[in-house]
Amino acid sequence: MARHFLEVDDLSPVELQRVMELAELKDPPPVLRGKGVALLFEKPSNRTRVSMEMAVVQLGGHPITIRPDEVGIDTREPAEDIARIFSSYGAAIGARVFDHGVLLRLAAAASVPVVNLLSDDAHPCQALADLLTVKQRFGSLAGRILAYVGDGNNVCRSLLAAAAVSDLTVRVATPPGYEPPGAGLAVTHDPAEAVDGADAVYTDVWASMGQEAEAARRRQDFAGFMVDDALMARAAPHAVFLHCLPAHRGEEVAASVVDGPQSVVWQQAANRLHAQRGLLLWLAEAGAGGR
Ligand code: CP
Ligand code: NVA
Repeated sequence: MARHFLEVDDLSPVELQRVMELAELKDPPPVLRGKGVALLFEKPSNRTRVSMEMAVVQLGGHPITIRPDEVGIDTREPAEDIARIFSSYGAAIGARVFDHGVLLRLAAAASVPVVNLLSDDAHPCQALADLLTVKQRFGSLAGRILAYVGDGNNVCRSLLAAAAVSDLTVRVATPPGYEPPGAGLAVTHDPAEAVDGADAVYTDVWASMGQEAEAARRRQDFAGFMVDDALMARAAPHAVFLHCLPAHRGEEVAASVVDGPQSVVWQQAANRLHAQRGLLLWLAEAGAGGR
């Protein structure tokens, strides 16, 4: 049975540590030499597509990016058939989808690893890069607090999943009605309370891909949730600012913060490549018997 990566807590704490270790491996072995990796996108992407293609290339493999109209998940043929076909051509399948259930169906039918490149519910590859960025900044995740301010969306949920299998503590502030499901007491509606003394402050767009029609209402509902200099001042003096990008300056984040001295968003974006190369190395290791 192939291992899949649909959410961060698909990995045990030890496995996650190994992925992080492999992400920083200086001279990665070409485990994908002569192999293809199919990357299927139902939504737009800049970082995820390009960093995943480059991760495959750096491991000696050949990435094949496929637009939705080319395969038509569940319109031209069922997700299960696509998974079986891709499994016969490549070493892994990456997919960015709306409905997380499609990933579960791809994974159930695939004989190679399926990697979640973002769904409406989770963005685990992003969270790997986020953990790596915080770790690089502070030397370790132990005792560090990350405050997530904004929508309880896919990015927020994967950060909470990452916290469950790492030493990072994640605090969340959302407007009422925008809490991540199941997070319970970890959520406040007061951004300042979440950010107070935090080591890292994180935000994401208020309307995710697929929610464009709600953007105007969300702008009203998220009033007071912009990460600006006043909110950053509530965090620890050494705090860093993170954003998965794309960012909307003047909405969820002030330009002075995302472009300011505490921002590590470019390092964070660069880490997408390293984190995913580490993940692909780990999946190859796990497929070969693991460690
Ligand atoms: N952060 C991120 O996933 O960016 P893209 O949507 O551009 O891939
Ligand atoms: N929450 C955002 C993340 C984009 C990388 C979205 O799903 O559109």
